[in-house]
Amino acid sequence: MRVTIKDVAKKCGFSITSVSLVLNNKENKIPESSRQIILDTAEEMGYRPNRLAVGLLKKKTKLLGLVIPDNSNMFFSELSKSVEVAARKRGYSLIYGNTSDVYSRDYEYLKLFVDHQVDGIVITKSSHLPEKDDIRNMEFLEKSGVPFVVVDRQPKGFKSNMVTVNNVTGGYLATRYLIEQGHSRIGCFTGPLGLTTSQQRLEGYKNALAESNIDFDESLVVEGNFSSGFESKAMTRFIDEKVTAIFCQNDIMAFGIYREANKFGIKIPADLSVVGYDNINLCDIVYPGLTTIHQPIDQIGEESVRILTNLIDTSEEVPVEVKELEPKLVVRSSVLINRGGK
Ligand code: RIB
Repeated sequence: MRVTIKDVAKKCGFSITSVSLVLNNKENKIPESSRQIILDTAEEMGYRPNRLAVGLLKKKTKLLGLVIPDNSNMFFSELSKSVEVAARKRGYSLIYGNTSDVYSRDYEYLKLFVDHQVDGIVITKSSHLPEKDDIRNMEFLEKSGVPFVVVDRQPKGFKSNMVTVNNVTGGYLATRYLIEQGHSRIGCFTGPLGLTTSQQRLEGYKNALAESNIDFDESLVVEGNFSSGFESKAMTRFIDEKVTAIFCQNDIMAFGIYREANKFGIKIPADLSVVGYDNINLCDIVYPGLTTIHQPIDQIGEESVRILTNLIDTSEEVPVEVKELEPKLVVRSSVLINRGGK
């Protein structure tokens, strides 16, 4: 049972009014000795202020909600950290919900956060969110009046405030680098192709091939899920197709390719070159270090909270802002020059 102000007043013998003034830090003429008795009694009893009630009165809870699809993927755990750092800097606390890519949970968390009076929401949707659910979720947020910012994955059929990274450029940089290293039979291990991030990286892959007059070959593209479980199927296809390099659309899937290569006795980079995407901290730890595309995760967090708190603080109509950040190639040691020419 939560301890109330009434319980504290009864215990220490002061009036409810006096105890409320002290515990809510309100202007009062209560002597310091009495104030200290009230504070000590409240602490001893484990009293905690009802922030929700205070928030309802002030119309602000100084709480932000964050929805992410997979906190076991360091891209999202690093994103959660960057959003929290940016929120704290502005006097906000963060509560977050991980949907584990169970797309029905996107809506559950949105309702939970709105019901708990968060001041704003940052959301990266689940990978397989059906279009009708995507639109329903965005319309729900719109109707709720709670300011929100979408991060990374564009909602279908809805223009919202968003922070993303130029995925076409990212896919292009990864593939162009492999071509510059002499590879022309390059596999592409994509994320879920229902996501704009996967579609745009594949577009960048195709652009780099076309720029070097290398024909696009559909059989060199294998769809994954930005997680694990598809790497064995992918590796089998890439071996059959005799690729000399693979562009993996995120680092987690690149590590899966490492694991499969090991099973087949394939050496990276001697027999097979690999490029990833995200530049999560593990890229420096795995051997060989993973060449990858850096996503500015700290900046994604900072920009999403900047846009969100501007929306929270203004009562004016604010034009929709889409902030697109730039990726960059980070060369480590998972790519070798292909002297075979194929
Ligand atoms: O690793 C998870 C992927 O999902 C990242 O590349 C991020 O951009 C998101 O699309």
